[in-house]
Order: sequence, then C-alpha cells, then structure tokens
Amino acid sequence: MSRKIWVFDTTLRDGEQVPGAKLNLYEKVEIAQQLKKLGVDIIEAGFPASSQGDFEAVKAVAEKVGNTGDIMITALARAVQSDIDSVYNAVKYAENPMIHMVLGTSDIHVEKKFSKSKDQILQIGVDAVKYAKSLLPQVQYSTEDASRSDFEYLWKTIEAVMRAGATMINVPDTVGYAEPEQWGEMIAKLNYRMKNLDDSVLLSVHCHNDLGMATANSLAAIKNGADKVECTINGIGERAGNAALEEVVMAMKTRGDIYDIYTGINTKEIMNTSRLVSSFMGLDVQVNKAITGDNAFAHSSGIHQDGLLKSRDAYEIVHPEDVGLDDMELVLTARSGRHAVKNALSKLGFKDFSEEEFEGIFEGFLKLADSKKEVYNHDLYVIVENYYEKTEKNNPNSQCYSDQFYEINDLQIVSNSSFPSASVKVSKGTEVFRTSAVGSGPIDALYSAIAEVTQIPVKLVEYNISSVSRGQEALGKVKIIVEHEGEKYIAKAADTDILKASAMAYINAINSIVVAKINPVVIGEKATV
Ligand code: KIV
Ligand code: ZN
Repeated sequence: MSRKIWVFDTTLRDGEQVPGAKLNLYEKVEIAQQLKKLGVDIIEAGFPASSQGDFEAVKAVAEKVGNTGDIMITALARAVQSDIDSVYNAVKYAENPMIHMVLGTSDIHVEKKFSKSKDQILQIGVDAVKYAKSLLPQVQYSTEDASRSDFEYLWKTIEAVMRAGATMINVPDTVGYAEPEQWGEMIAKLNYRMKNLDDSVLLSVHCHNDLGMATANSLAAIKNGADKVECTINGIGERAGNAALEEVVMAMKTRGDIYDIYTGINTKEIMNTSRLVSSFMGLDVQVNKAITGDNAFAHSSGIHQDGLLKSRDAYEIVHPEDVGLDDMELVLTARSGRHAVKNALSKLGFKDFSEEEFEGIFEGFLKLADSKKEVYNHDLYVIVENYYEKTEKNNPNSQCYSDQFYEINDLQIVSNSSFPSASVKVSKGTEVFRTSAVGSGPIDALYSAIAEVTQIPVKLVEYNISSVSRGQEALGKVKIIVEHEGEKYIAKAADTDILKASAMAYINAINSIVVAKINPVVIGEKATV
C-alpha cells in the first residue's frame, strides 16, 4: 500500500537564514499562506528566541495560517528552557502546534561546541524534551550533525528522547556530508530500531546541499523508511542550501515506479510558491535550476524543438502544467530549426505560405536571430511583413500589424536625488515620438516616459537586473513582469547599457501585450504568476 510522506517546510526558518533574505511579518504570513495552499504538512515559521521580530512573525503565522485545517505550525528552539518557552508562546495559537528542538550528537558538537561529555548532552536533551512535553503534546527532536555522529551514540540519544516523549525524530545532515547509499543504510537501521520501539514516532530527514546531494539523500532516506522530509522552496538555506521541496516532490511523483508513496502537495502551486519566495526574499532562482528555474521547461536547440513538436515525451519528463506553468516554452534563437519557427508562425495565424515563401521568411528569421539573443512573437510579424514587402508578393495575412509594434530609438537618463528624469525617442511603424518624464528614480522616469508614448497602462510587478558576464563589457540582463488588464507578461532584454536593457525589456513587454490583443490565443509570453 502506498505510504504517505510528510512534507515539512523550513523556508521561513532555515531558508530565511540566507544573508539578506530577512522577511518582515507581513511577508512571512503571505509565504506561509502560500505554503498552506501548496499543501505542506508542517511549516517551521522561524526561531522565536532569536529576536522579538521573529517571535511576533511566528506568532502571526500560528494565529493567521495555523488557525484552520490540519497544518502543523512549529518553530525552532535550542534545548534550553528559555528557547522552548519562546517557541511555545509563539506557536500555541495554532490548532496544531509543535515544539522543535535541536541538539548536536557528533563528537565535534558535543566536545568542541559544547565542551561537555556525551552523557551530559544526552541528559540535557532528555530534560528538554520532558519540559517541552509538559507544554505541548507534539515535540520534534533534531540530532544535529547526525551524519557525522557515532551511530550507537546517535541511537542511544534517539532512544532516550523517544522514551522522554518526542513524537518526531529529525535526523539532519547538517553540513551536507552524507553520501546517498551510506545515508540510506543508516536511515534503514534507525527506522528498524525506531519502529520496534514505538512505530507512532515519525522518522524525518533534513539534508543540506554542500555537495549537491540534498535531493538524492532525501530520496535515499525515503526509500529506506523515512516518513518525513524537511525542505525549502528553491532549495534556499544555510550555505549551499537545503533539499529543494520542488525537486524532492517532483522526483517522487515522476518516478512513482520506484517510490510507492504519496504527499499532500498540490504540485500545481509549485511555481507560484517559488516566485513568491524568490521575490520576497530577493533571491533569484538559478536559470537552470531543476523544476523552478526559468529554463527548466524552455527548449532552445533545434533538434529538441523538432522532437518535442513531434512528441512531447521525446524531451519532457515533467509536464510544465503539473507545476503550474501554462506550457513548455520553445525559445526562438539562432539554433531553432524550421519546425519550431513554422510552429510559432502558425500560432500567430501565418499558415498559408508556399515552401519558397517560408524559406524566405526563415532566412529573415535567421538574420534577426543572429543579431538578437531571442526572437519574440512581435519580431515574427515584422519578419513576415518585411518579406512580403521586399518580394512584392501578396501577403496572405491581409492586415498589416508590424506598424503596431514599438521600438526604442534613443534615450537619455538623468539620475539625481531631486528630479530623476528620462527622455525617450520611440517609434511605432513610421511614427516617431519624443517625450520626457520625471519619476521617483531613473527607471521609474524611463518607464513613465515610454508609458506616455504607448498609452498602454501597465503595472510593473517585478524588475530584476543581473549581470550575464564579467568585466567592463558585462551584459546587464533585465527581466520584468508587468500586469495589464489582469494578465501578467514576462519580458527580458540584455545590453551592456543597463538602462537601454531596461527600456528594451519594457518595450518587449508592451509588444507582447500588442500581440495578445491582435491574437488572444497567443500565450507564449504571458507569465503564470
Ligand atoms: O541543519 C540542521 O541541522 C538544522 C537543524 C536545526 C534541524 O537546521
Ligand atoms: Zn538545516
């Protein structure tokens, strides 16, 4: 019979330990609401003894998110009474509160960190569990640095804290040292002994990613009897991070032939959760990150695009729809082949052309793709119309659309603290517009000036800038998400001049809106956010 795996999310505690990722109370509650929608079983909302602010945030999560449903709310304590009191006073407002405490079991922790004997540390742990149990029925005990601990001492600790009343035992690979096969064997041994002692106590693992093996180790543990995994969204966390929830969950789902288990996760909420966490914490997701990276479902090689269009399973093992995306993304670049370009043209309604016409259009595509990183839908309209104009052939698509798209011709930006301002020259077909605007900052001024020309009202939801390469010639890549009439549009641009890249990204977003108005079924550049 299929086994349930509990998913414990520690994005708000281990994830929030990432430098610069600190969240305020409002943001913590928003993320916790989204984690509940995602279907996690337990939220670790923080470390209340660390600051009054964190205490208040954990309390707010307990009150506002833990007040309904089966979700359990916990927070971290060291094995000392004052920390345990802080956790209790913060989580007690939840319907299902739990106290989570941590104490090391490795020689390094016992001898070097605490300068105590193993027996003394074990007794501290047992006393702490007994104290926590006097406050709440649910208590999790984490044996920090378990992967580098002497096995028999680790077991002695687990046995003692179970007898003292711990209801969940969490075995952390604190420094990401574990190796999947060895780790799996250790978990199998612990599982056997624990189930013999009291099979109602859950065995959990908490894997770090220092050697890039957090997902593999979590899965090895599950295969060997672990009942619960601790994860973070996008794998964020201390140093190289924690096991990524989306990777562990999608691996179990995709390889159901191996893992006969189920979780309560609604995988369609994965992308929404990833984007919320990334934007609130200001932590970009690596573009090629499994499941939640920008390129995880984007195919750019011509051979792959051709294969996918013939049969999606040729290059797709996870369906983008299953994690909450609209569709796979076929990125049009100089490496795209005829099949992908024909497919994109046909989605825009360009179907009736001869082989000779298509070859002419494809030549125009390759020329543009060589000078541009990515070719967008609005570029395809221009390529097609240029082709028919140049060859003086009859365009089967009777209406001309290319004069509806915008292009940035020039810009000047003044950045100062009193009047940041921008002047732009923008063209639309043969029309040329010049305008200036002031704003709260240079980008705001720039976007206000372009908005004055386009008269297409948009709200900037996200603005993200990163460096693509190093040194003085580094390309600045700008990615934005804008909202127009309830729909979100994603657009990118890159240039050595970051202000020009910002303007081009905005113009690309506007042109995507124009494409969607011409052809409402085109969803390629709309973002599911
Ligand atoms: O990595 C670790 O050991 C931890 C514990 C608090 C579970 O984060
Ligand atoms: Zn950790």
